[in-house]
Amino acid sequence: MHIDIISVLPEMFSGLIDCSIVDRAQKKGLVEIELHNLRDYTTNKHRHVDDYPFGGEAGMVLQIEPIDNAISALKQKRQYDEVIYTSPDGEVFNQQIANQMSSYRNIIILCGHYKGIDYRVREHLITREISIGDYVLTGGELAAAVMTDAIVRLIPGAIGDEQSALSDSFQDDLLAPPVYTRPAEYKGWKVPEILLSGHQAKVEEWRLQQSLERTERLRPDLLDKKKD
Ligand code: ADE
Repeated sequence: MHIDIISVLPEMFSGLIDCSIVDRAQKKGLVEIELHNLRDYTTNKHRHVDDYPFGGEAGMVLQIEPIDNAISALKQKRQYDEVIYTSPDGEVFNQQIANQMSSYRNIIILCGHYKGIDYRVREHLITREISIGDYVLTGGELAAAVMTDAIVRLIPGAIGDEQSALSDSFQDDLLAPPVYTRPAEYKGWKVPEILLSGHQAKVEEWRLQQSLERTERLRPDLLDKKKD
């Protein structure tokens, strides 16, 4: 998979996508993540990529020209399943979307900024708008990093134990069951007896029942979604 991220602040990604599982997936050749500085695609001699909005509103707006140049340059090299724009107005990102996108070959993520971008970008160049939640960030970089992390860990081979991605919370619209490790007792706080029993079928039954109980208590909306 190839992920191209276009941003005015590519330095914001350091430490976010070059660590841990995402870094390992890149080193294993499962994914290539390329950061592109939007300023490299402007013809403006001061490398400006924004301008005042028509109609006299406050704030600056990202211009269409450098964005179109960047997307066109990338499209010369590969075909994209999706050209995504990160925006609080978008479809709210979730595990199903992460699953779907983890099967894609190539995606572009264009990070929004401050006031927004020239609306023609959204009308003509973008195929999908994604929000990571109902709150406003200063820019789309954190949203792009969140999406990249959630997608890359689902690529087969990215996580050592494949089973562990399948048992994630939300994978089945259920929260994951609790997990414990040694010691079996700490300060008198005990690990549930069943997990020490060695009886795998009973352990699985316990896990499912815990998942259902936790989902009902903490996220009943997920169960309602299952009923739909
Ligand atoms: N840009 C600003 N806020 C955002 C959000 N909640 N999701 C995605 N991109 C954003």
